Amino acid sequence: MLPSPKTASFPTIQEIWEQYRPDLLKVESQIQKSLASEVPLINQIALYILNSGGKRIRPLLMILSSKLCSSHQGEDHILLAAVVEFIHTATLLHDDVIDEGNLRRGKKTARTLWGNHASILVGDYLYASAVGHGLSLNNQEVNLVLQKACGHMIEGEMVQHTHNSDLGIRETDYLRIIQHKTASLIAASCQLGGIAGGGSAERKESLFQFGQNLGIAFQVADDTLDYIAQKQRLGKTLGADLKEGKVTLPMIHLLRTCSDEGKRQVIRTFGSDGSSEKQFDQILDLMHRHGSIEYAFSVARGYVEKAKGFLAAFEPSVHRTALHVVADYVVSRDH
Ligand code: IPE
Ligand code: IPE
Ligand code: MG
Ligand code: MG
Repeated sequence: MLPSPKTASFPTIQEIWEQYRPDLLKVESQIQKSLASEVPLINQIALYILNSGGKRIRPLLMILSSKLCSSHQGEDHILLAAVVEFIHTATLLHDDVIDEGNLRRGKKTARTLWGNHASILVGDYLYASAVGHGLSLNNQEVNLVLQKACGHMIEGEMVQHTHNSDLGIRETDYLRIIQHKTASLIAASCQLGGIAGGGSAERKESLFQFGQNLGIAFQVADDTLDYIAQKQRLGKTLGADLKEGKVTLPMIHLLRTCSDEGKRQVIRTFGSDGSSEKQFDQILDLMHRHGSIEYAFSVARGYVEKAKGFLAAFEPSVHRTALHVVADYVVSRDH
């Protein structure tokens, strides 16, 4: 019998990380080079979090987006990837203060080790540093994209804050919040890649839309992982959203579909001062029984498909395939 012809298989996410390692390594050295405060404690804290094992998904999206638009390129996408990672890191430093997070990437948070004040100040420093490096490109389009993304992130966080413990929050409100707080920076990363790669206005818009839909999927997956991930892999405290009074998509679905007794159970848990492990397990059990986890993942997958649709504007290439793989990874990841 003749051997069956080898079918072209889709690369795995690990193969994508490998394939783009040279560029990712350049981003790493740019990150280290870009951090140059005269205050040693600022560098120490910033390096602690910057080197604590983040996935670098935004730099990867930036690299892929720029290569999708051009095969001959300069190094702007490397600098911009470092800028975006600085902004992302700043938001994490501030986020852990707001959410009173003690664990991130499997390590103690900066605020746990150095306190809230230091954490906020280093976050501010990273923002300022990102602005400085971004401005060095002398490109007003870049400046405006970054300014808009940062503004939206803060607005998203603020609206989320006003909905804290709001069990009546609607799915549309939730989606709007995550579009702002998370998707705006992911969308900007893709759009900036398009700018660095010299893409046309239509292509830059397609990349922005791709990133925006992918970013929404990313946060929906993140909020679902907060209920079902393995703590070891997640590297964050499981059930943090329930403890914080953050009503995310699995909970919105549960409240929409469960009985009055189920609702009372949720209210009791939210009302209690820091929900116990037993209460968390009960809520998770309810979610499984009502299909709330599956529902949230199906919504996330829907946004991934929508995101991929915007890549149809580009001719097939290894970079387009890589973006498809990253898009699927966003909803299949375990951390
Ligand atoms: C965490 O983002 C914050 C969210 C927007 C959910 P990532 O999951 O990209 O964080 P790291 O950088 O890989 O730790
Ligand atoms: C992450 O938000 C920070 C921003 C997107 C600004 P979350 O609070 O939802 O994320 P984790 O779970 O702490 O990473
Ligand atoms: Mg938060
Ligand atoms: Mg948080």
